[in-house]
Amino acid sequence: MENKPFALLIKDHETVKDLIERLLQTSASAKRQRREMLATLKAELELHEKLEEQLLYPPLEHRKATRDLTLEAYEEHHVVDMLLDELESLDFDDQAWKAKLTVLQENLEHHIAEEEQGLFPKAEKTLSAKQLEHIEKELAEAKKR
Ligand SMILES: [Fe+2]
Repeated sequence: MENKPFALLIKDHETVKDLIERLLQTSASAKRQRREMLATLKAELELHEKLEEQLLYPPLEHRKATRDLTLEAYEEHHVVDMLLDELESLDFDDQAWKAKLTVLQENLEHHIAEEEQGLFPKAEKTLSAKQLEHIEKELAEAKKR
């Protein structure tokens, strides 16, 4: 698994999916818990998006095979960020809170599936071994920090 390209990003995806799943199980009265878990989720997602947008998407944006999916991925990150902001400013016991979180989950699952089944395999074929190695190395170093 560790040798698989983008294994670190895929691991992030699992972490994030798991966090959302647990967050969906909280009750409306657990406001403090929701606030804390949402802050963790936001920090995870922000770092993950930043790494993808800095290291992976730029070389993919300029190749025909990956261009459309990459442009779409930027927009999907944007939607996720908007939903996170809205979840933060909404009252944690508002009845719309869980509904909004469910929409975030659905959006993320779509985005993750498109990356893991579409963009990542295409990137593996399109980028040179050297580029892939460089991306993996930078990701691993950024993760350590
Ligand atoms: Fe992503």
